[in-house]
Amino acid sequence: MLEILTYGNPDLTKPNSELEQIGDEELALIGAMIETMYEADGVGLAAPQIGRNLRMFVLDVDFDRDAKHPDETRNPQVFINPKITWESTEDEPFEEGCLSLPNVHAQVWRPSSVRMTWRDDAWEEHDELLEGYLARVAQHEYDHLEQHLFVDRISQNKRLSLAPKLTELRNNNK
Ligand code: NI
Repeated sequence: MLEILTYGNPDLTKPNSELEQIGDEELALIGAMIETMYEADGVGLAAPQIGRNLRMFVLDVDFDRDAKHPDETRNPQVFINPKITWESTEDEPFEEGCLSLPNVHAQVWRPSSVRMTWRDDAWEEHDELLEGYLARVAQHEYDHLEQHLFVDRISQNKRLSLAPKLTELRNNNK
């Protein structure tokens, strides 16, 4: 399992570069990110969260750890060089968490659907309308590539109430 960086680690908010191609090294990294995501009980994981400043994330919105055969419900998706090309004007709230912000949860408003282009791990191009939970998770992960965490998108009051936890996380990274 790869080490997941937490809030306050400077690598989390460094600029992220596009991948120019995919080779054995990138495929190995993607495989390790997917395994790390499952082991950490996450729905998504972006490369900067494991200290690699690349425009890439993985997610799985179908995995059901309570299923009789959880491994059979796995459906990991790989997003390389993603771009959001359209956002719905309608926003909706959702309680978010993040592997880089352990024990922190807050309601975040985001567009309910987005159009995204990306390449997958076979370097195939995608251009799709993402809706529902997939849109939510993809936007959260995309934010990581744009050097944002979900706590950047919450109300001032909520930020104040989370301040002690955020300070504690930051201090752990000193
Ligand atoms: Ni996150």
